[in-house]
Amino acid sequence: MQLLGFADYREQAQRLADALAIKYSEIAVHHFPDGESIVTLPTELDHELIFCRSLDYPNNKLIELFLACKTARQQGVKQITLVAPYLCYMRQDMAFHPGEAVSQTIIGQWLGELFDRVITVDPHLHRIEDLDQAIPNAESIVLSATGPMAEFLAQRPNPPLLLGPDSESEQWVKQIAKQNQLEWLVASKVRHGDHKVEITLPDYDFSDRIVVIVDDVASTGRTIARAAKALKQAGAQTVNCLITHPLFVDDTEQVLANACITHVWSTDSISHSTNVIQLAPLLAHAIHH
Ligand code: R5P
Repeated sequence: MQLLGFADYREQAQRLADALAIKYSEIAVHHFPDGESIVTLPTELDHELIFCRSLDYPNNKLIELFLACKTARQQGVKQITLVAPYLCYMRQDMAFHPGEAVSQTIIGQWLGELFDRVITVDPHLHRIEDLDQAIPNAESIVLSATGPMAEFLAQRPNPPLLLGPDSESEQWVKQIAKQNQLEWLVASKVRHGDHKVEITLPDYDFSDRIVVIVDDVASTGRTIARAAKALKQAGAQTVNCLITHPLFVDDTEQVLANACITHVWSTDSISHSTNVIQLAPLLAHAIHH
């Protein structure tokens, strides 16, 4: 087995190859002036490959994976696994307006046509129960970062109170709290647009508490920022946040800094300066078993 990575996700892909004790090779990508990508695979390929690349800012990455996968198949590769810790297009799981594409199933099935197996971490599944519904045509494995996140929090001084900013986050908050025997709560959220959310905290005395907000995705950062501001107004002493997929578009870092968040922590699902948790052991364990 051989692991193929891309320069934009090199460190994580190399760590995964090391954890699996297999060879790491890189797919070279060149962009032509008009944006077209040309991918070049290593000339020697094993019969079984793992492609490792997270799919934030996905459009170019998907085309490059498509080109790389087809090329590997043409060269006789039999078995290809995609390891994409952040799986794109999972949020658009229904047509909210007439004519809208349901990207979750379209992209899911496309990946299923290309790969024999797709491994990801805490995909954003809201209205469906499991990833098989989005990728019915390949084996799919869903891992959760809650174990490593709980281990990370267990190393910190002073057990915090955990807060999920919306009902969807309950699944992750509950798991981390259970593992570390922490108190947990969930707020409610109403989204009025990409950059506008309203958070209502549950009825609770937050005075002088150390709170960690836990969420799967920070995209514009508005969800976490609103929750942090509400907690501060309610008297919380310190607010930190722990994020699985730090998408951090545009001014997210500034938005979180303005919300008086002391520490922003994330997993290396997506490369970011806030990465403190490496997912390689979790991914390697799933591939081994
Ligand atoms: C949505 O339900 C997710 O769990 C996140 O809360 C959401 O994607 C965060 O988005 P933003 O950072 O743009 O508020």
